[in-house]
Amino acid sequence: MSLAEFLEAAARLEQEGLATIAGAESPDTLTAARNALVGRKSGRLTALMASLPSLDPTDRRDAGAAVNRIKAALEAALGSASARFSTGARGGPDLDPTMPARRAWRGGAHPVTIVMREIEEIFRELGFTIALGPEAETPWYNFTALNFPADHPAMDMHDTLYLGEGALLRTHTSPVQIRTLQRYKPPIRVLVPGNVYRRDFFDASHAPMFAQVEGLAIDEGVSFVDLKATLTHFAQRFFGRTRTRFRPSYFPFTEPSAEMDVECQLCNGTGCAGCKQTGWMEILGSGMVHPSVLESTGVDSERYSGWAFGMGPGRIAMLRYGIPDIRLLYDTDMRFLEQLSR
Ligand code: PHE
Repeated sequence: MSLAEFLEAAARLEQEGLATIAGAESPDTLTAARNALVGRKSGRLTALMASLPSLDPTDRRDAGAAVNRIKAALEAALGSASARFSTGARGGPDLDPTMPARRAWRGGAHPVTIVMREIEEIFRELGFTIALGPEAETPWYNFTALNFPADHPAMDMHDTLYLGEGALLRTHTSPVQIRTLQRYKPPIRVLVPGNVYRRDFFDASHAPMFAQVEGLAIDEGVSFVDLKATLTHFAQRFFGRTRTRFRPSYFPFTEPSAEMDVECQLCNGTGCAGCKQTGWMEILGSGMVHPSVLESTGVDSERYSGWAFGMGPGRIAMLRYGIPDIRLLYDTDMRFLEQLSR
């Protein structure tokens, strides 16, 4: 055989082989094509290679190169053709359209975030705007300006996380009352969401960091009636029709002070383990802003008066959703977090 004849036979083999592979309509016909073309025993390419020794020795190198190139082309065509069958689709070898669809994963808001947004929405409708303050505070803003006596136990190292000389992590959002009074003239109506820190260890009802929402309303002629009416309205909006009650309490920065309870949302006020059989759950602390708080920021306490409250959205989320342990709010366990977003 001459080299020209050999190369012509090789070219024909390549052309016909590629056409056969492209025309294969099933895995079986493709397998048959593979055997007929590159099969080791009876394949056409094998037969062509067997004729190499009949060539002039000087032509063998060129002939061998042609054989290798055709072999690679046929193998590549066979490979992509079999991928076509293994997936049965046009999308490539990794797509299996017969697989059951997975449910689309959607993120959801954290229970505390949901509660926070609802609180903000209700107070926004009442004309409150959002105010923010720093989490690292000075003892003056966190305690002194809020009328805490210098020896108050809350200032103790056992309760407050001090960052060093003159700085601490705020233990409540009330210092933002001071910052707001310093910055704006009455009438003032602000809502202050934020994180606060206390030197507590995690247990079922304590966390060293948690969210609070503070409210402050200051104007001429504001009375305890406004406080009661506004906070009762809030409870009705947030929980639906529910009974509320105010109990006398004490905070250095309010006078008089009161805590508000709502009917236990778990037992509807009949008494259960969640409310220690009382039928009530405390949701916030409040009171009329103490005149010395107004005076510490230069506001005339003869002319202006007002009220403030502070509540914990984490606590409220636990009441509303029946969450038994505060640590669930911080564990980032997807099985817990996904329940509300579904
Ligand atoms: N700052 C108080 C606390 O953290 C709550 C509070 C705020 C009470 C405003 C009265 C008025 O417990």
